[in-house]
Amino acid sequence: MDTAALHFKLALLALSLLFLPSLQATYFQYCDTEANYVAKVSGIDISPNPVVRGKPATFNISASTGKAISGGKAVIDVYYFGVHIHQEIHPLCEETSCPIAVGNFVLSHNQVLPGFTPPGSYTLRMNLFGDGDSITCISFGFKIVLGTSGSSVSNI
Ligand SMILES: *[C@@H]1O[C@H](CO)[C@@H](O)[C@H](O)[C@H]1NC(C)=O
Repeated sequence: MDTAALHFKLALLALSLLFLPSLQATYFQYCDTEANYVAKVSGIDISPNPVVRGKPATFNISASTGKAISGGKAVIDVYYFGVHIHQEIHPLCEETSCPIAVGNFVLSHNQVLPGFTPPGSYTLRMNLFGDGDSITCISFGFKIVLGTSGSSVSNI
């Protein structure tokens, strides 16, 4: 490797370390890794991140669909350290604007988890159905921390 390439790599490394703490990318996986879902997820935005206990949180899922979807439902399951603790079913059109045209869309899910929810590592599984079939299903981890009376969040 020549020195220019090396310097470039080091610069990239420094840059990525710089951005790492603020990036907070949320990694997801498809429920069925073999499935060829109609909608492909490109990203997840959780706000606030981490989620504060007893406070509303927004989960924005960016996705792209290969077929137009007129309506359906979103089945949300929440797991705490792998144990199923909560399920909600919402009309799809409550979480995004319908009909969903071919192309990109954002699904915005608002969630208030009960105040007694212990802080820790959670998994949210979101299965979206349009006209009967699952159009996509993903799961991803998120954290719940204790809210303090001030604005800062410190636990874990
Ligand atoms: C989530 O998506 C909604 C609707 O597109 C938008 O208004 C909101 O600002 C987004 N929130 C975050 C945290 O990205």
